[in-house]
Amino acid sequence: MKALYFQEHGTVNNLKFGEINEPVLDSNTHVLIRVRACSLNHLDLWVLAGWRGLELPLPHYGGADIAGEVEDPGESEVLQKGDRVVVCPGYLDGPEDEWSRAGQDSLSPSYKILGEARTGGFAEFISVPNHAVHKIPDNRSFEEAAAPLLVGLTAWRMLMTQASIKKGDSVLIVGSGGGLNSFSIQLAKSLGAQVIALTSSENKEEKSLKLGADIALNYLQKPDWSKDVIRVTEGLGADIVVDNVGAASFSHSLKAVKRGGTIVTVGNTSGPKLEIDNRYIFSKQIKIIGSTMGSAKDFDALLQHLWSNKLKPVIDQSIPLENGKEAYKILEEGKQFGKVVISV
Ligand SMILES: NC(=O)c1ccc[n+]([C@@H]2O[C@H](COP(=O)([O-])OP(=O)(O)OC[C@H]3O[C@@H](n4cnc5c(N)ncnc54)[C@H](OP(=O)(O)O)[C@@H]3O)[C@@H](O)[C@H]2O)c1
Repeated sequence: MKALYFQEHGTVNNLKFGEINEPVLDSNTHVLIRVRACSLNHLDLWVLAGWRGLELPLPHYGGADIAGEVEDPGESEVLQKGDRVVVCPGYLDGPEDEWSRAGQDSLSPSYKILGEARTGGFAEFISVPNHAVHKIPDNRSFEEAAAPLLVGLTAWRMLMTQASIKKGDSVLIVGSGGGLNSFSIQLAKSLGAQVIALTSSENKEEKSLKLGADIALNYLQKPDWSKDVIRVTEGLGADIVVDNVGAASFSHSLKAVKRGGTIVTVGNTSGPKLEIDNRYIFSKQIKIIGSTMGSAKDFDALLQHLWSNKLKPVIDQSIPLENGKEAYKILEEGKQFGKVVISV
């Protein structure tokens, strides 16, 4: 089968499009999916670059967000050849532990992500456990179904399960042009929040507003943007600050959050070493909460919300698998607004 793979960790130039062995199906537990679309996440760039301790069998190909058709349902009693489906991007790969027993999958050390710990969807076929496969409504294209999976699962757990977002909360999204963050605008809005989007260009401000943000601010024009957040929240600050940018933004987020409010983080695009002035934490009595991906229960809740609220993710563009290098480049340069999807 054809895949977009790499034989050595490194830069986008290490990506190759070509023939690779097809997966072997364990039909008792697994389903073979013919991949139709798979969207790209920042994670795919980290995996391509590699990090200390990451030991993947090579060649490897990424891709966590898979939508396609069932090619071989194996022993599944609910799936049939030709069913249009998506795959949950997170899975448990190890013995049960206290976290998996409590349904807190993404807290377990054996929690893994498709395309990170094993090969993903940047290929024609993938074999996955049948319990991870969910049917999609007929009115969704494969691209629309693939785009919100990892970011949706992450945003759902981050805002709902961890930050306990409520109707009427003011929510600041730092770096709103990214794949995860642009989806978080839509999700927060659909949950009744007042959304403040912080981004880097007029064009992205406009797009954030179109997506549902109530206010858009620009962090390049106003490096001291926490003051603007305080101003637009009537001197209070935001109930919830979503900060996945890290080193470049966290000291400002501490200022922008309301007294008694919450900062939630799932990542650090600009670096992991944060500048923290502890006085903001204890005197404002804020909560700083971490979140990562989500559980099978979070994923079920997300899909239900997606399909019933007709939430459609923003697709910056869709690029064929053979030109997949271009998709990686767009994400590397941060040119996208929303998701870049690879069609297979
Ligand atoms: N732990 C988890 O479960 C999990 C899951 C998904 C993602 N993540 C992490 O979350 C982060 C976002 O992922 P993604 O796929 O959405 O990445 P992405 O599409 O590449 O978006 C990153 C965004 O960060 C913003 N940004 C970069 N530098 C900034 C700065 N100096 N100040 C403010 N904003 C800045 C930019 O926003 P603008 O375009 O608005 O300028 C950019 O679009 C990554 O670090 C990723 O690893 C973690």
